[in-house]
Amino acid sequence: MAEIVDLRSDTLTRPTEAMRRAMASADVGDDVYGEDPTVLALEERVADLFGHAAALFTPTGSMANVLAVRSVVAPGQEVLCESSAHIVRAELGAHAVTQGVTTRTWTHPRGHVDLEAVRSLHAPDMGPFFVPTAAVSVENTHNFAGGTVTPVADLQALRSWADEVGCKVHLDGARIWNAHVATGTELAAYGGIADVLAVCLSKGLGAPVGSLLVGSTEAIAEARVWRKRMGGGMRQVGILAAAGLHALDHHVERLAKDHDHARLLAEACGVDPAQVETNIVVVPRDDAASFVAAAAQEGVRVSAVGPRTVRLVTHLDVGPEAVRRAAAVLARL
Ligand SMILES: Cc1ncc(COP(=O)(O)O)c(C=O)c1O
Repeated sequence: MAEIVDLRSDTLTRPTEAMRRAMASADVGDDVYGEDPTVLALEERVADLFGHAAALFTPTGSMANVLAVRSVVAPGQEVLCESSAHIVRAELGAHAVTQGVTTRTWTHPRGHVDLEAVRSLHAPDMGPFFVPTAAVSVENTHNFAGGTVTPVADLQALRSWADEVGCKVHLDGARIWNAHVATGTELAAYGGIADVLAVCLSKGLGAPVGSLLVGSTEAIAEARVWRKRMGGGMRQVGILAAAGLHALDHHVERLAKDHDHARLLAEACGVDPAQVETNIVVVPRDDAASFVAAAAQEGVRVSAVGPRTVRLVTHLDVGPEAVRRAAAVLARL
């Protein structure tokens, strides 16, 4: 029987043999003491890539986002974001539950920043009973909008406005590598629009675990304390940081293949491939759950991200042959 093609998420990848070798031979120390050389090397490299002073290795993108948002939004303040942003839809309310952060949202069909909406929502000081706005959060690429890329010019316009009014900017860059490869925009250009950003190694880059928070020396020093407070102080974790360094060396440019595969699958599902910018395809279906079940019957795993929305995600563990097989099944369905 043909192997199952799993398109539910790009988090499903298993470390390659070469990545496992890099992990096995990693130099390690106790990272809570700041003595793991591989973690320090990863943090320095990622901070440099984004043009910031420092970075902090975290177990998950969700923790990196919570630490990042808390560094720019105090308890009782609000962050503005798009209504289907991961921070507001898919982190189980962590920002509210653990940090007392509230949210107001704008809606954009492709998950982009809407500067006009941001301007009208922005309320840093409206008197004694309104929640003060402290920051705007943007997600690039945008997961639930379908791996869409916000144009860097829009992000730069947001940055200019934020500087004028004294507002902070957080970037959820879980898949910023995909935006970089899809558009050729330098990672430092994305870094330059944000006070603080979160990036993931465990999505398209294929590391088994790991994300980083990137920002100023002060923000990262404070986040290091909060990471420990939240139970995220890890010890000889260079083993995992080595997977991240390997991914940065070998798995960034290849994301272009995932993007090509996503366009192929989009075509098979009747979605305009021109709408697919990176590795995520969103397929509207009358009954997402029954489509997911029918595809699973034929060995193709996809997920429902809404009652009428199916999502397919391409990644390192889905090669061209598997993509062709999945495309045939999905086209038939
Ligand atoms: C855009 C975005 N941000 C953050 C996260 C959180 O990452 P993690 O699952 O590592 O907590 C995800 C996870 O898929 C995501 O898609």
